[in-house]
This record gives sequence, C-alpha cells and structure tokens, in this order.
Amino acid sequence: MRNPQINRHGKLQHLLTTEGLPREIITTILDAAAPFAEVAEREVKKLPLMRGKSIFNLFFENSTRTRTTFEIAAKRLSADVINLNINTSSAAKGETLLDTVDNLSAMQADMFVVRHASSGAPYLIAEHLAATGRDHIHVVNAGDGRHAHPTQGLLDMYTIRHYKRDFTSLTVAIVGDVLHSRVARSQIHAMTTLGVAEIRVIAPQTLLPTNVERMGVRVFHNIDEGLRGVDVVMMLRLQNERMQGALLPSPQEYFKSYGLTPERLALAKPDAIVMHPGPMNRGVEIDSAVADGTHAVILPQVTFGIAVRMAVMSMLAGGA
Ligand code: CP
Repeated sequence: MRNPQINRHGKLQHLLTTEGLPREIITTILDAAAPFAEVAEREVKKLPLMRGKSIFNLFFENSTRTRTTFEIAAKRLSADVINLNINTSSAAKGETLLDTVDNLSAMQADMFVVRHASSGAPYLIAEHLAATGRDHIHVVNAGDGRHAHPTQGLLDMYTIRHYKRDFTSLTVAIVGDVLHSRVARSQIHAMTTLGVAEIRVIAPQTLLPTNVERMGVRVFHNIDEGLRGVDVVMMLRLQNERMQGALLPSPQEYFKSYGLTPERLALAKPDAIVMHPGPMNRGVEIDSAVADGTHAVILPQVTFGIAVRMAVMSMLAGGA
C-alpha cells in the first residue's frame, strides 16, 4: 500500500506520522530546520517562503506549545494564519469534520494543521482531499488521539541531534505512559529509522502497549535499572484524559515508583539530557529539581519546535 503522506514523485504531500517516513525525508527536515533556528536569532525573523499561502489551524483538542509554535512558524514564513476557534465554530452546532474542511477549502486553504482526539482524523481529511481532487491542500498532523504527533517526534530528534550529534551511539530511555502516548510512538518510529542504538521504555505493565517489544524497544519495569547509563531521558505525562479505568494506584505512588528525581537521574550518563514534550506534571512524573536542572532541555525543545515546523511547512509548500 502506498504511504499516503508521500506523493507519486516521492515528495512529502502531508505529514501524518513518523512511521514509515523515509530516513532521507527526516534528515532533510532536520537539516532544513537548522537555518530556520538561526533566523530566529535575527532582529527580522520573517522569510517570504510562504507569502500568499493560507494556513488553517484546526485544534479540536487543547494545546499550548503545538498550536502556538505552528502559528509563529507560519507567520515567520509570511503565511496568513487562521486559527479556527472550535468552541465558537459551527463544529459546536454539529457540523461534521469533513463539512468544516470543505467550507475552509472553499476559502482557498493551502494547508490544514489538525489536532484531534480521534486517532486517524488527519488521515480522514487527507483521504477526503484526495478523493475530491484537492491534492494541492496539505495536511499536517498536530496530534491525533494516541496515534501520532509527528512534528513533536521530529523536534525531539532535532533536539537530540543538537546535543548529541550522532544517533547511532545513543541509548535513549522513554519513561512513563507509553500506552496512551502519541508522542512516544512518533519518537520510537523516528529513532528506529535514524538508527538509535538502543531504545528503552520504562513503565509499569499497565502503561505499556501489548507487544511493545515489536516496536524494537527494550522493556524495563524498574526505573533504576532502565536509566543506568542512558544518554537521553524522555519523560512522558500520565495521559489521564485517555485512561479508561484505574491503571495506577495514585499519582503519589506513581511518583515514588517512576518519578524522575535527581538521585535517579544520577544513574544516567553524567552528560545525559532530560526531555519532556509538555505539559509537565511536576511531582507526578518529574521532580522540579530535575525539570529546572542543568540536564533539562525542555524549553529548548519548544524553541526548536518553531524551526522544525517551519521546515515541515515550507517543505510541503515546496519552498525548501
Ligand atoms: N507537546 C505538546 O503537544 O504540547 P501541547 O499539548 O501544549 O501542544
């Protein structure tokens, strides 16, 4: 089956997932992001690469980092950005997702950036655009259910490369609620493609997908064992909004067993970096001393996210 995000010429048509995304495309995005990160240091941050293009941000789920950095990225590329307020849009009156898409397409949209609680919603939009002859409109998945968050995965790869240079010698630990995490899935697929030497997942059994080993990861239930000697620690939030039933005794018990404290971080390599996609729950998955400590690169991740999103959007629009 053809990868729906790659067109018949092998170019990126949509960005829906990091699963199956060719290594050359990932590397091209990371390489293209580097000069955009430098532009951010300049007094005048705007580039004309997407002048005249209309980008619609469709966030059917809450967001601080992703929605804002997509907007900043689009504005830095000189695009026109329209943020649909879902609560005051006609979606609240029962309009279907595809009817909303059709109406926004009629307003000459060039790109939809979509976050949705339902896994597969951005795929549905991409398939609908293809079926109705509107292939010129691009779709970027900004997080769908527990399935994928590809720009987060890519900005995480950019962050790792920035601090560690080479993927192939690294041991990376992902700690926490992998079961409900679209971020973890996107990270694992991207890291596997980029040749990370060892990917560990550290979590209680109740927070791991069945057969997670098939994704090419090593499973640890004991955080002290899992953190020993790692280069990168990627923390995950407990996704309470996606949990059905009690998977954990309490947040306090979880912190005791899986919270990242300075003592536990000391088991990693001395130059290990600590990452978190946000939002953080301090005192649940991460101690404030670590979140604000010298190993944390959590805020640089956010800044790099602008450059990576500029790279993705300009590549889709043919400008990079
Ligand atoms: N990392 C992330 O997706 O954060 P937001 O939910 O704030 O966009």
